[in-house]
Amino acid sequence: MIGVSVLGSTGSIGRSTLDVLARHRDRYRVVALAANRDVEGMLRQCLEHRPELAAMADVESAQRLREALGREGAGIEVVAGDEGLAQVAAHPGAQQVMAAIVGAAGLQPTLAAVRAGKRILLANKEALVVAGALFMEEVRRAGVEVLPIDSEHNAIFQCLPPGDGSLDEGGVSRILLTASGGPFRTLPAEALETVTPEQACAHPNWDMGRKISVDSATLMNKGLEVIEAHWLFGARPDQIQVVVHPQSVIHSLVQYVDGSVLAQLGNPDMRTPIAHALAWPARIESGVAPLDLFEVARLDFEAPDTRRFPCLALAFRAIETGGTLPAVLNAANEVAVEAFLGGRIGFPHIPRIIEAVMERTTVLPADELETLMEADREARALARELVDGFGGAAG
Ligand SMILES: NC(=O)c1ccc[n+]([C@@H]2O[C@H](COP(=O)([O-])OP(=O)(O)OC[C@H]3O[C@@H](n4cnc5c(N)ncnc54)[C@H](OP(=O)(O)O)[C@@H]3O)[C@@H](O)[C@H]2O)c1
Repeated sequence: MIGVSVLGSTGSIGRSTLDVLARHRDRYRVVALAANRDVEGMLRQCLEHRPELAAMADVESAQRLREALGREGAGIEVVAGDEGLAQVAAHPGAQQVMAAIVGAAGLQPTLAAVRAGKRILLANKEALVVAGALFMEEVRRAGVEVLPIDSEHNAIFQCLPPGDGSLDEGGVSRILLTASGGPFRTLPAEALETVTPEQACAHPNWDMGRKISVDSATLMNKGLEVIEAHWLFGARPDQIQVVVHPQSVIHSLVQYVDGSVLAQLGNPDMRTPIAHALAWPARIESGVAPLDLFEVARLDFEAPDTRRFPCLALAFRAIETGGTLPAVLNAANEVAVEAFLGGRIGFPHIPRIIEAVMERTTVLPADELETLMEADREARALARELVDGFGGAAG
């Protein structure tokens, strides 16, 4: 039996992970779960999957969960806060950890899992955006495997040559990262002024959490993925091309120097990359319907429009500059997306806030975690000021 801990179990990726695990109870055991405030969701998961340990980042939520599980006589230990998340990440019964907390909040627990020597199933792309160099250095030091869960990176992983060699050594000329284009792909710039959070979260192909849905609508999600691909695969920014592919059937492609292009295809359902990473190098059933190419019928491709969606260009600028700038980009984006979801700013304010924060920031080398955390804090404070300014203007 393979023990699995799930960080962010109540979210979209967390729930899909538990769905795949439940199909293979003879092979996997859920040993620990962690979330933030969703006590009802966590209670249901605990009663169904019977982990040994559950953590809530929010201390008051942990207390409510403890009482509710006590009433059920479940015998599940409940822990709280950062320490509780770290305990789930490093649980001795887990060989694999699904890192699916959203945002920079996932960095420290994911690092705890790396340091504890677990196989990392990495959904939390923000961990790599904030601290890519340090994260990959910890991975090397601990000698752990990192399996990408992002469908694009999972596809690239499947199409790359085996082994740890560089892209050049493997004959890879380019990574082609596909993007659906999001719900506003065909909207004119003026119409973007008035789009609502509900429209932004109504993704045409994927059913995801609210933050990544907005990231997908602004194309920041693709920008974060460019940075993620840089660190995961050692790809220079000029080796990564973003291709808009509205059907989301090709999850990404790898181009070789001999002209070959390998692609991974499938229905847009995160249970495929989750099952792939859980079982790698074996294959297990995921619950995803087989791809029907006659139903798909056609595959379209177009170039991304960075004029209407400037976030993608901002992310390229961040990774080309390096240092603390990707952490700044990420922090400003998290604040701006939260403000948009809360109805405090308009959709076009998101890139404006991120760009303004990036321009007002002094970029430092990213060789210490504390430097990155400080850059993150400063960028959030500055972004909040700008939100207040734009919110007043918008209101
Ligand atoms: N959804 C997708 O299809 C998809 C695809 C590729 C990559 N990803 C990546 O996977 C990650 C998760 O995305 P998602 O869509 O599953 O997000 P989501 O549905 O919003 O779920 C987020 C999860 O993180 C937990 N969480 C939030 N803040 C936390 C904190 N401070 N401490 C501990 N736990 C916290 C939430 O707990 P509560 O429920 O208690 O708030 C929830 O379990 C993101 O990094 C995203 O970019 C997602």
